[in-house]
Amino acid sequence: MSIHLFLSLLLALILSPIPSLSQQNDTVPCPLNFTILEQFADSNRPQVDSKIECQYILQGLRLVDSNYLQLTGNFLPPLNAASSCWSAYQTLAEKFVAGFDIRASCGFQTSWISQGCMNITTKDQFEALVGQSALNDVVSNCNQSLENNSPCASCTTSLGGLSATYLTGESIGNVSGCTAYPSIYAAAFANPYGPADHGNAKCLFQLDFAAASPGKKKRTLILIVLVACGFGLLVLIGGIWFSWHKYEEYMMKKRRKDANDKIELGLGNALESISGSTTLVKFTFEEISKATKNFARENIIGRGGYGNVYKGTLSDGSEVALKRFKNCSAAGDANFAHEVEVIASVRHVNLVALRGYCTATTHLVGHQRIIVCDLMKNGSLHDHLFGTFENKLSWPIRQRIALGTARGLAYLHDGAQPSIIHRDIKANNILLDEDFEAKVADFGLAKFTPEGMTHLSTRVAGTMGYLAPEYALYGQLTEKSDVYSFGVVMLELLSGKKALHVNNESQPSLVTDWAWTLVREGKTLDVVEDMPEKGPSEVLEKYVLVSVLCSHPQLYARPTMDQVVKMLETDLVVPSIPERPIPLVAEIDDIERYSSSGSIQLSSTVGFQTYTFESSLPRDHKGDGESSTSTTDGR
Ligand SMILES: *[C@@H]1O[C@H](CO)[C@@H](O)[C@H](O)[C@H]1NC(C)=O
Ligand SMILES: *[C@@H]1O[C@H](CO)[C@@H](O)[C@H](O)[C@H]1NC(C)=O
Ligand SMILES: *[C@@H]1O[C@H](CO)[C@@H](O)[C@H](O)[C@H]1NC(C)=O
Ligand SMILES: *[C@@H]1O[C@H](CO)[C@@H](O)[C@H](O)[C@H]1NC(C)=O
Repeated sequence: MSIHLFLSLLLALILSPIPSLSQQNDTVPCPLNFTILEQFADSNRPQVDSKIECQYILQGLRLVDSNYLQLTGNFLPPLNAASSCWSAYQTLAEKFVAGFDIRASCGFQTSWISQGCMNITTKDQFEALVGQSALNDVVSNCNQSLENNSPCASCTTSLGGLSATYLTGESIGNVSGCTAYPSIYAAAFANPYGPADHGNAKCLFQLDFAAASPGKKKRTLILIVLVACGFGLLVLIGGIWFSWHKYEEYMMKKRRKDANDKIELGLGNALESISGSTTLVKFTFEEISKATKNFARENIIGRGGYGNVYKGTLSDGSEVALKRFKNCSAAGDANFAHEVEVIASVRHVNLVALRGYCTATTHLVGHQRIIVCDLMKNGSLHDHLFGTFENKLSWPIRQRIALGTARGLAYLHDGAQPSIIHRDIKANNILLDEDFEAKVADFGLAKFTPEGMTHLSTRVAGTMGYLAPEYALYGQLTEKSDVYSFGVVMLELLSGKKALHVNNESQPSLVTDWAWTLVREGKTLDVVEDMPEKGPSEVLEKYVLVSVLCSHPQLYARPTMDQVVKMLETDLVVPSIPERPIPLVAEIDDIERYSSSGSIQLSSTVGFQTYTFESSLPRDHKGDGESSTSTTDGR
């Protein structure tokens, strides 16, 4: 008997995995329940590239963490369960993507599954850190079904605020860090349906049910093949048309560029005489002081989190805007000067030009950093839409502003070297010169994108109501976050409603949701407010559709700024707006529903392939072209 016991112990010791020997603690079984993920995956799903696969893996893990939090009050499994949890997850993953080693492929360290944000492990610690009023805000926004876009957006916006304000510390590893905590918490406690609920999974963890029931699989497959063939044909036709179009455009651009180069040359020469080799002037503190009448209160034209903006007059009589940064130290000056040089080298008619800067230490106010830009006579777009100006902007001016802003942003993303993500596009940052030419301002927050396109930033910068959901939630920053904010600004411009406003039922409402609802109901033109010289309805409608497309909650659905410029300035049709993503293998009814509504989008998170070639006309996305035409005519 005792020999038997001894033998089985020995056997267990030999068979047990090496890690348990090398760790001081014995490995305990994983307390996470990965079974709940089974409903989200389908074994027939084609394998996507490993970066996206890792993203799914992370999102799935966060959902499982949320389930664990709900049951135990702990965000993460204990450290001694880390390796058994990875094994459990690996076993599940094998069912769906054979041969995909999670930890090796995604670069996760074993311990990271048990380490999260700022050493917060329990519900109580999280709640203590965040405080009651922020929690109430989250509950009031997330305590409802998150199945639809509108509630989902208000919930994710409030969660984004939470991470931006309270969870700014270090995350350990990249598994469930500070950006993921609010979603994990919200699905467990702020929402009544729990993490595995369809709406929560989709909204908070960006996971969709994918399993098709077996009977339907064949039909689904056939339909997909059919759709793919049709799509291929479209691509072919579209491709031919597109290359021809591209060629024409290229010629046009070339002509325009030649003209631009000339202008640029003239300007460069003029400025060179002021400051030698570079166009950037380093001002002395005395010059700045004199220009602003010693920073007189009446010269303040703006206040921001970073400091005040002053109006000033330089000794040569030119009027400038001066941005003064608070709380800086002399230590960062070299870096600051470098950034300013880079920013100053980015020049475009639709970007505010930097004239110079100043760094100095004074006895009275300590260390100073000041940026000097051209003064914009007509203030900001915000002033005109919501502020002090009495007259409503006319349509031709609004159109000009929209186009200018789009071109400025497109240049930041694609023309500038290195490319720049603005991060804080909003109506206050769109300035207007004396001809109402839009100038995108405030690169204070813009950081230069590193090599490779996407990266996760630890700290979210931006303004409520303008923040793209994926940026607010996960800190995932791409050019597409700017596109989202641009869409929001466009909707403000068209509707005169603020990004985040209070609706008739005195509920906070996002302008994107409001516009989206109207567009879906076929009342696209109701988005546009009354204004002088209102343009033709086809044009207004196009602007609304482009704005709604840009502010689509799903990143892949948004066009690039280059594409936006093309849609706005040529008669390139606006692609149909995907209602919501269809999983790779969808229910047949879904596909039928989508195809009848004219908006087929076989979604993977890969990109926006259907975009340029979409053949449907702008109106068709509602599936009732006639009735919407008659609405248009009826006006
Ligand atoms: C795990 O989750 C599944 C689905 O929600 C449930 O049926 C099962 O009982 C859970 N298992 C454990 C051990 O709690
Ligand atoms: C996680 O971090 C590691 C190293 O820090 C990196 O190699 C890996 O690519 C990251 N994984 C993901 C999915 O971001
Ligand atoms: C987390 O806890 C560890 C060990 O207690 C400590 O060394 C580390 O500094 C803590 N990190 C943070 C961000 O508080
Ligand atoms: C959510 O709302 C329901 C009723 O509207 C309420 O009974 C419930 O307590 C709320 N949940 C939370 C977490 O506040």
